[in-house]
Amino acid sequence: MFALGFFLLTGLVCQSLGQYDYYDEYYVPSAPLEEPSSPHCSQECECPFSFPTAMYCNGRDLKFIPIVPSGIKYLYLQDNHIEEIKAGVFDNATDLRWLILDNNNITSDKIHGGTVDKLKKLEKLHFSNNRLTKPPSSLSKSLDELKLIGNQLSSFPANTLSGMENLTTLHLSKNKLTTESITGAFKSLKSLVLLDVSENKLKKLPSGVPPSLLMLYADHNDIDGIPNGYLAKLPALQYLRVSHNKLVDSGIPAGVFNVSSLLELDLSFNKLKSIPEISESLEHLYLQVNEINKFDLANICKFSSPVNYSRLRTLRLDGNNITHRSLPDDTANCLRQASEIIFD
Ligand SMILES: *[C@@H]1O[C@H](CO)[C@@H](O)[C@H](O)[C@H]1NC(C)=O
Ligand SMILES: *[C@@H]1O[C@H](CO)[C@@H](O)[C@H](O)[C@H]1NC(C)=O
Ligand SMILES: *[C@@H]1O[C@H](CO)[C@@H](O)[C@H](O)[C@H]1NC(C)=O
Ligand SMILES: *[C@@H]1O[C@H](CO)[C@@H](O)[C@H](O)[C@H]1NC(C)=O
Ligand SMILES: *[C@@H]1O[C@H](CO)[C@@H](O)[C@H](O)[C@H]1NC(C)=O
Ligand SMILES: *[C@@H]1O[C@H](CO)[C@@H](O)[C@H](O)[C@H]1NC(C)=O
Repeated sequence: MFALGFFLLTGLVCQSLGQYDYYDEYYVPSAPLEEPSSPHCSQECECPFSFPTAMYCNGRDLKFIPIVPSGIKYLYLQDNHIEEIKAGVFDNATDLRWLILDNNNITSDKIHGGTVDKLKKLEKLHFSNNRLTKPPSSLSKSLDELKLIGNQLSSFPANTLSGMENLTTLHLSKNKLTTESITGAFKSLKSLVLLDVSENKLKKLPSGVPPSLLMLYADHNDIDGIPNGYLAKLPALQYLRVSHNKLVDSGIPAGVFNVSSLLELDLSFNKLKSIPEISESLEHLYLQVNEINKFDLANICKFSSPVNYSRLRTLRLDGNNITHRSLPDDTANCLRQASEIIFD
């Protein structure tokens, strides 16, 4: 059980450190692979005696998925050349909880019926860096984590995630998703904490996202505005990334970021000309590489008294048209927690 415990721990620790610590890198199985394999294991793979419910088949130049014996719960198939999920391979794998298929060459039309859709206890499906054009259909309702990063998804049927009441993490970055293609896709989710739709072709922030969300990543899209009241419907949201988009002042309604849950707001690499109004609880504000040419202290320091000051710790303004000299005199009083105010 060591490998399992180890992975869960890294996931939790990194998550609590905040958004710029990517905890979704591919992990290397930590079980000692020199151990003799248990007798029921597929000959291409290893099933350590100390962790008999795991089968490691990663990085072996496999072109196919080996037959999975019954009793296996954790199946590692990443870093191979698999192109197809053939009927029958999972027939006895009814206990499968984790299926890791990252870095293969699987296309949507080569996922046969009666395979992934039959895994009714599946909790984690990692299918990043393949060649999927749509998500696998009829996925287990018990999924808690779904990763489809770096595929060619251009469609995402609205019922793909229906009934997944325990889904907490959904990674869809680096695909070809449009605003229309994800319409209605998230509305039945009750436990979603992280939604990553960065590096797609969205023109708007995703609609119908559940109020449980803590992290919403939508950077590197074509978004030009934030709908009025969008964040008011996300009372738990702490991290919002909309950097590398096409945001302009007219797309930012007054008070749209005026929500007390938000700790970090990344609006860098856009076309903003002024500093938007933020709430007093925000701690990190990224505005570098915009077209800001004036320092609106009022939008950042709505409150400035000996006991009442901005919680901002990071304020990045480099790559704009302002310098330290643009700072009003009373800035220090309000921004007294800001250890990092960066101009150019
Ligand atoms: C995937 O398939 C393409 C085209 O058939 C091939 O060029 C590429 O090397 C394959 N990649 C892997 C990881 O097998
Ligand atoms: C499933 O298990 C049964 C009983 O052990 C065995 O006869 C059958 O060949 C297995 N099927 C696959 C696809 O492994
Ligand atoms: C969600 O998790 C709860 C608690 O672990 C479990 O009882 C329930 O069956 C799960 N829901 C689904 C759809 O698997
Ligand atoms: C922002 O929120 C504060 C406190 O909740 C409120 O007093 C203020 O009027 C709000 N500003 C806007 C523009 O909604
Ligand atoms: C800080 O100022 C805001 C806005 O003027 C006010 O709503 C809030 O109650 C003040 N907090 C304290 C602790 O004085
Ligand atoms: C930058 O600011 C200066 C001084 O405020 C102004 O004269 C100039 O036009 C601005 N440049 C741009 C590109 O906005």
